Amino acid sequence: MYYPQELIDQIQSNNDIVDVINEYIPLTKKGANYVCLCPFHPDSNPSLTVSRQKQLFKCFACGEGGNVFTFLQKYDGKDFKEAVETLAARAGIKLPESYASDFSKEKYNYRQRLIECNTEAARYFYALLRSEGGKNGMAYFRKRELTDETMKKFGLGYANVDGKDCINYLKSQGFTDKEIIDAGIGIYDEKRGMRAKFWNRVMFPIKNQAGKVIAFGGRVMGDGEPKYLNSQETQIFNKSTNLYAFDLAKASRSTYFILCEGYMDVIALHQAGFNMAVASLGTAFTPQQALLIKRYVKDVYLSYDSDGPGVQAAIRAAKICRDNGLSCKVINMQPHKDPDEFIKNLGKEEYLKRIEEAKNAFIFEIDVIRRKYDLSDPDENTRYDEEVAALLAEMKDEVTRTNYIKACAKDMEISTEALTAMVSKEAKKLSRFNSFTPERKTVHEEKDESREKPQRLMLTYLAEYPSIYPTIEKYITPDDFPDDPYREVAEKFFEDLRNGTASPARMVNLFEDETIQNKVSDMFTCFLKGLESKEERSAAIVDIMYRLKSNAFESLKNDEGGIDPAVFMTKKKELMDIKKLKIILPE
Ligand code: CTP
Ligand code: MN
Repeated sequence: MYYPQELIDQIQSNNDIVDVINEYIPLTKKGANYVCLCPFHPDSNPSLTVSRQKQLFKCFACGEGGNVFTFLQKYDGKDFKEAVETLAARAGIKLPESYASDFSKEKYNYRQRLIECNTEAARYFYALLRSEGGKNGMAYFRKRELTDETMKKFGLGYANVDGKDCINYLKSQGFTDKEIIDAGIGIYDEKRGMRAKFWNRVMFPIKNQAGKVIAFGGRVMGDGEPKYLNSQETQIFNKSTNLYAFDLAKASRSTYFILCEGYMDVIALHQAGFNMAVASLGTAFTPQQALLIKRYVKDVYLSYDSDGPGVQAAIRAAKICRDNGLSCKVINMQPHKDPDEFIKNLGKEEYLKRIEEAKNAFIFEIDVIRRKYDLSDPDENTRYDEEVAALLAEMKDEVTRTNYIKACAKDMEISTEALTAMVSKEAKKLSRFNSFTPERKTVHEEKDESREKPQRLMLTYLAEYPSIYPTIEKYITPDDFPDDPYREVAEKFFEDLRNGTASPARMVNLFEDETIQNKVSDMFTCFLKGLESKEERSAAIVDIMYRLKSNAFESLKNDEGGIDPAVFMTKKKELMDIKKLKIILPE
């Protein structure tokens, strides 16, 4: 932890989670809580719940949850320290200077340094392309019909045959060997020492969302291998969370993005006026990239290669879009291989027409499946219908599923009713499969759940009704929470309850590991069944206390050497007392 706990507490209490989340996603009041559409999964019914009292958020559909810091971490891709700094600034809290010089500040500065190193390298490649030494590169780009304006817009450059020149230039600008290597520009091995990663390639700078150069793609100017060489992942370059030309597409203010596979595709599209084109970075499209896009637009047009692998990649990307709440269409590139070739051959008007005619990605996928079958054969036709129905059955959102069933039925020339029946048959297969899952759980796992659940519920009730603590503490102690991290949380939370400073949100900060943070947040945000009357709730609490105690009792009994008869009697009596307990809940 970089900052002292008191400071974190202060920042947290000055940033009400309801107000902070509301600045990102508008919240509506629902009972004692606030709700909104969950940004962490495709949501058609507001399922993200924010509690002002607990200062926690929780999505009851996808399970994401946490406090105000974890919200920023998850929503904005910040690390914990960045989230703390953002919220300190939001609350006008000055972070002490002494911490400004600590390790994390250094890390931040170092990352800035690596960005500067990449920026300086980009300047070098850019200048070289436009000089005598870069004429091969220039000839290559000319052959690919790029204008000067386009080359400037994308900051294209050239790395010459002697890669050393670039390294020497960076050194002359004050960068150390270590910085050049960590920036991804230089590589080092014992045999050959320090050398340039990129040489004899045309260079495509890769920028982050803020438009800062964080990496490069370099293409051979002919048929060499590998065709494209990309910077490896570094402290500043994450391939799965960035997109090529995202900064430009964002600025285009378009209501949709075009997603392609290649840098040259993006560039050709921009040159033709499609400023909203982006591409993944030499790897498959990821959910993080989908969520990044979703912050700006809701519609994605896929412009992938028209060959077999391109089609399969498009189907996978479309599923990722759909699963992350983006609506997705596929642009038909036939008879050309990719958007770059398409634009060159058929021009931008024709491409625009293809955008307008783009097919819903799911219907596109079904078309692909259809080609596997000979539909004049009745058996094959049935198998085709079943395969489609199975895909539809996987759609979780009912409204979406119904709409797709209608559209597909039309496409498949069968009645909506017939397809609906097939889908529910497939859904039953699926749910049968799913309901088998718990049975397949090992005995051990099931035991864990029956042990952990009362621990979670107890903490949630205490967070909901702190005033019951004085009654509870006579019976329940942190010792009744046998599992990690429940025990540690119970110890701290009980202590805070005694001091009147209990804050579930604060408990999350006790841990640095994101999985544990999630778990801790879950402990305080259990779904409390629709127990409307106070009597029912109070009875539920007694029941939970009983389960907690008897679980602890069971584990005592199981200890080797049996149990001391005196202890046995006390424990037995405690259990009896709990049964008779009456919990008074506040108004
Ligand atoms: N790619 C890569 N490494 C390779 C080949 C491809 O990283 N060896 C990535 C690049 O990001 C490239 C994208 O995959 O832009 C698409 O590759 P491909 O379709 O083969 O290339 P094109 O985009 O058609 O490239 P070009 O038009 O320059 O041949
Ligand atoms: Mn191409």
